[in-house]
Amino acid sequence: MFSLILLATLVNLALGQGTRVGFYQTSCPRVESIVQSAVRSAVDSNPTIAPGLLRMFFHDCFVNGCDASILIDGSSSEKTAGPNSFLRGFEVIDAAKTQLETACPEVVSCADILALAARDSVVQTGGTGWSVPLGRRDGLVSRAADTASLPAFNDPINVLISKFTDKGLNIQDLVALSGAHTIGTAACALFSYRLYNYNNTNAPDPNIDPAFLPTLQNLCPNGGDGSRRVDLDTGSAGRFDNSYYANLRNMRGVLESDSALWNDTRTQRFVQRFLGVRGLLGLTFNVEFGRSMVRMGNVEVKTGTQGEIRRVCTAIN
Ligand code: HEM
Ligand SMILES: *[C@@H]1O[C@H](CO)[C@@H](O)[C@H](O)[C@H]1NC(C)=O
Ligand SMILES: *[C@@H]1O[C@H](CO)[C@@H](O)[C@H](O)[C@H]1NC(C)=O
Repeated sequence: MFSLILLATLVNLALGQGTRVGFYQTSCPRVESIVQSAVRSAVDSNPTIAPGLLRMFFHDCFVNGCDASILIDGSSSEKTAGPNSFLRGFEVIDAAKTQLETACPEVVSCADILALAARDSVVQTGGTGWSVPLGRRDGLVSRAADTASLPAFNDPINVLISKFTDKGLNIQDLVALSGAHTIGTAACALFSYRLYNYNNTNAPDPNIDPAFLPTLQNLCPNGGDGSRRVDLDTGSAGRFDNSYYANLRNMRGVLESDSALWNDTRTQRFVQRFLGVRGLLGLTFNVEFGRSMVRMGNVEVKTGTQGEIRRVCTAIN
């Protein structure tokens, strides 16, 4: 018996995974349905919540691990940092937490609520679900300066790759998870530099299809409203599908970091595999996306007696 427990512990350590599917099976059996209904009603009344929650989980995991540090209020918390300024859906996590504190007080972490909400957002927009390993604990620190580990829209491909490998995620994970851009929007301010005078060339970014340029230029006029929002997956922005990759192949990526995935042979290979290009071993985007989300969801997680279970998601106990 003891050696079995020891073996299980060693396997857990070796896999680096303290999370597991069904963690709350006895302590809070309704956790999944409570989060799911909170996400469903929020997305039904405001579809922009789905991409908001999916992106929020990514921004949580890449900064001090998936520990709900993104949710903390305060004058210099992660939330206040530039890359997080457009995040949306915080109120959905709070609503789910309030219900969970009634159903099973001080049991479910905010980090796990966010992990479930990200999955439910994908399902709600037509994607395939996956089982979410749970058991994360909530973190005790949240500092705006730590968000430097987040990939930026203008990071060169080598930096994008290394920011993912720094988190134990490989090139396939980078390409699969960037597929999250199959839903949602970006502000003109974050890519209009590509449209008019890219790199001081007095010309647009050559990695945008010239036939697509007028579309983007109309949406984001030179010197216009930088807060205007544009679909990341032109033609299919509300639907979680693999059309984002077809847009990349057609030089219709909106962010520079999207176009970069096609412009480098190491990442282009995975774009093609998600498109099912003949001669390459095909990969099913929806299936691989779930697998990569599970891997991202285990980044630097706190489990066991680390961290805490917050009573409210916006503040440390
Ligand atoms: C590869 C590096 C990535 C970069 C540089 C990047 C950058 C960005 C930027 C600049 C935006 C627009 C933000 C705005 O204007 O509000 C955005 C939107 C978004 N990102 Fe990413 N992203 C990356 C990877 C990811 C990953 C891994 C996910 C999730 C798994 C994700 C999910 C999203 C979603 C869903 C949106 C739309 C947000 C909305 O509509 O509110 N991104 N991303
Ligand atoms: C843009 O400029 C940077 C720095 O000068 C350079 O490294 C990069 O290759 C340029 N990109 C293109 C597509 O011209
Ligand atoms: C990357 O972009 C540059 C500039 O448009 C182009 O010359 C080069 O062929 C591209 N590389 C790939 C692998 O697509």
